[in-house]
Amino acid sequence: MHTESSSQARYKAINLAEKLSLFSEHWTPKVVAQMNDYQFKVVKIQGDFVWHSHADTDETFIVLEGQLRIDFRDGAVLLSAGELYVVRKGVEHKPYAEHEVKLMLIEPTGVLNTGAEGGDRTAQNDVWI
Ligand code: NI
Repeated sequence: MHTESSSQARYKAINLAEKLSLFSEHWTPKVVAQMNDYQFKVVKIQGDFVWHSHADTDETFIVLEGQLRIDFRDGAVLLSAGELYVVRKGVEHKPYAEHEVKLMLIEPTGVLNTGAEGGDRTAQNDVWI
């Protein structure tokens, strides 16, 4: 039998706006939930990221606030709040945001934000918030 407090914790909704209010830095994805081997991450970005690709997985971008552009070597896609895009595995991409964008990423555990590129934009993996 569950107490009131434990059942509240067990059935607590994950509020994305609340999670996003807990940090202000850019380009550091934070895990908010996991489903099987996939993690849901919130992140704030602004400016230009680095060109990279993910050899082993697709990567889903869901824009929560702002306007995101994802550049590809042969084009680009513009995403507004409420829109999503799946970048296919192996495809080079570079997120760009003129103004701050709040978004959710869905990808398997263990995926680094810079793919195989490395560099100082590489964020620590598996950071929960
Ligand atoms: Ni990526």
